[in-house]
Amino acid sequence: MSGRLANKYALITAAGAGIGRATALAFAREGAKVLATDINAEALASLAAEHPAITTRSLDVTQAEQIQTLVNETGPFDVLFNCAGYVHAGTILDTDEASWRRSFAINVNSMFHLCKAVLPGMLERGRGSIINMSSVASSIKGVPNRFAYTATKAAVIGLTRSIAADYVARGVRCNAICPGTVKTPSLGDRVRALAGDEEANWRSFVQRQPMGRLGEPEEIAALALYLAADESAFTTGTVHVVDGGWSN
Ligand SMILES: NC(=O)c1ccc[n+]([C@@H]2O[C@H](COP(=O)([O-])OP(=O)(O)OC[C@H]3O[C@@H](n4cnc5c(N)ncnc54)[C@H](O)[C@@H]3O)[C@@H](O)[C@H]2O)c1
Repeated sequence: MSGRLANKYALITAAGAGIGRATALAFAREGAKVLATDINAEALASLAAEHPAITTRSLDVTQAEQIQTLVNETGPFDVLFNCAGYVHAGTILDTDEASWRRSFAINVNSMFHLCKAVLPGMLERGRGSIINMSSVASSIKGVPNRFAYTATKAAVIGLTRSIAADYVARGVRCNAICPGTVKTPSLGDRVRALAGDEEANWRSFVQRQPMGRLGEPEEIAALALYLAADESAFTTGTVHVVDGGWSN
């Protein structure tokens, strides 16, 4: 199948690297016009060079005014992929107020502002698909040393289900994606930041995956593509786990 997103206009956050970048490319290859956003201008420039259907804008998802201005100037959109997220490592006792607030600002408040900005345009036209990035570390599974992260990603699931319920009869769908561990640049940063041998730290991430390997960004992008496309028209308010069997 090709042209699965023909005539669709998609907004993606954190599209400069990792899952967001793989998704921007997957959407563009399937015929979507993509507005890829990020805080990293260099990453956006290299992404835009990869496909002519991708245009880019700088967007810090923690800035509510920036979000509204961007949507006013570039919307309306058929698809919103809220991909931006931040991993704070630690137990509740390791989590100070600032880290807790930062985690909610990037992982949850951002989605509140983006959904609120994009929804009126979707409702006016009676169509839209919102995809929110959660994680297996959420209401699906408790993961050690991910206290603030897990709390925020559980909130993403609640936010998703609520939007889906409110607009189910008005053509707007809202679904969440819960990946297991995926090989992205930020995972590399987290591994390098750990104490001890880097190779051994990589192995510990791989060992907790029953398939014996990490996920690839493209494997998550494939699910986002399905949820963005009309082939998933009967799917809303759902939580999609793509974790190589980790939570099973
Ligand atoms: N990688 C994993 O193992 C994994 C697993 C489960 C869920 N996730 C979730 O997937 C999403 C993407 O993660 P990833 O690992 O692919 O990418 P990542 O964490 O490496 O980030 C990708 C991009 O986010 C941008 N970014 C950072 N702060 C931003 C901000 N305030 N506003 C806009 N952009 C910002 C960075 O510049 C970067 O280009 C996150 O929500 C993450 O929590 C990742």
